Amino acid sequence: KWFKEVMKRGYYISDIFLGFRRVPHFIIAIAKEEQEKRWVIRATIDTYLFSNLVEGVRIGKTGEAYLLNAQGVFQTERRSGGHILEKDPETLQSPARGSEIKTFVQKDARGEKYLYATTWLREKDWLLVVRQERSDAFKTLSTATYLVLLVSLVGGVAIISLAFSLTARIVGRMKQADMDKRSLSEQLIRASRLAELGEMAAGFAHEINNPLQIIRSEQTLIETILSDLKDSGQIKGSKDLVELEESMDQIRLQIDRCARITQSILQFGRQSEPSFEEIDLRAWIPQVTAMISKKASVHGIKLGHEISDHIPRINGDPAQLQQVLINLLNNAMDAVLSRHGTEGGEIIVGAAKKDKGRIVIWVKDNGIGISPENLKNVFRPFFTTKPPGKGTGLGLSVCYGIIENMGGTIEVESEKGVGTTFIITLPAEG
Ligand SMILES: Nc1ncnc2c1ncn2[C@@H]1O[C@H](COP(=O)(O)OP(=O)(O)OP(=O)(O)O)[C@@H](O)[C@H]1O
Ligand SMILES: [Mg+2]
Repeated sequence: KWFKEVMKRGYYISDIFLGFRRVPHFIIAIAKEEQEKRWVIRATIDTYLFSNLVEGVRIGKTGEAYLLNAQGVFQTERRSGGHILEKDPETLQSPARGSEIKTFVQKDARGEKYLYATTWLREKDWLLVVRQERSDAFKTLSTATYLVLLVSLVGGVAIISLAFSLTARIVGRMKQADMDKRSLSEQLIRASRLAELGEMAAGFAHEINNPLQIIRSEQTLIETILSDLKDSGQIKGSKDLVELEESMDQIRLQIDRCARITQSILQFGRQSEPSFEEIDLRAWIPQVTAMISKKASVHGIKLGHEISDHIPRINGDPAQLQQVLINLLNNAMDAVLSRHGTEGGEIIVGAAKKDKGRIVIWVKDNGIGISPENLKNVFRPFFTTKPPGKGTGLGLSVCYGIIENMGGTIEVESEKGVGTTFIITLPAEG
């Protein structure tokens, strides 16, 4: 019923009723139009507040005010007898709807002559009654009229302003909730689009990245050979040689640039669902290390394997796992290079069965090591100790995400000036 009313008039105020809480209250419902959306706010208001307001009115000794609904049922208590929700035994004259105030004299049930003033509340079909015993009425009729006006104003304003401040608050809160929801769903849409895009780009970047790494090591090799030949005097410094060297610099620069781009795309797009394939680590690890073995040998780094013969197969995404291993190996190479230069660096990649259903893979280096305070942060995105342009600080956070996704863990042990070991634990078949 109230819903129909709200839709028709924009608001609805119920009569007072007790409800299951046995507390007199009424309902205000308001429809609000906002950006093509229609809100209906429904509030239950205990009458305590406005009852006090109306009931508290005193005029002279016997003057009082109360509210009746259209059927003559008390909506507030009457001081001189008359309880809320009971029917008023007297039938009162009331002004026609829309007209102002009616004043009259009428005998009440006890035979007492009362001076009455009645008016309909503007927003609700409640009759505001102000009455006073005739004998007590020192006041002129016009004063009573004045009072009725005042009370009706106070009462009406109180109800309406209460209703509106309440609904405004509720509307505000709902709008906020709606905005939060909308921005959340926008975020979700954006995130899923990004994920899609990222997945696509990552696949692409991944394919580009591997040959790029090979190009890079070949280029470094050419540079090394070139400078060896120059040093040994097998080729003489000439204009052509200078040009060749400049061209080599350019190639290296552009390779770096491509590598940076593909790397960041890879890291960006890593949230893709992993594919699950059976991986035999005995064959797979050497395949991956082979990709960087040239770079390692160019820099004089010894790259070794310690793979147990009896290692169970694992299930995982080979592309993602490869990214993890390459990231760890790149870090290790950086670490040994900054400690040893091109002589004395050593990296070992190992794998073994840990216990039932688990294997470990480790990457151990004898590089600069990590200080205890940095050790806490190495997996954090964008944590890097490398100069700007060299490291993004994403490598290890990417590793962490991938391994976690595979149901494994990645840990690090390190001693400054001695070396570092990254240990990956993964679920395995046997
Ligand atoms: N094997 C290691 N030895 C010493 N320090 C390491 C090693 N691996 C990582 N670190 C430290 O952890 C930091 C974070 O590594 P991470 O791979 O996340 O980022 P990055 O290598 O600096 O940059 P990016 O990998 O994005 O190019 C490194 O900057 C380095 O200080
Ligand atoms: Mg790194």
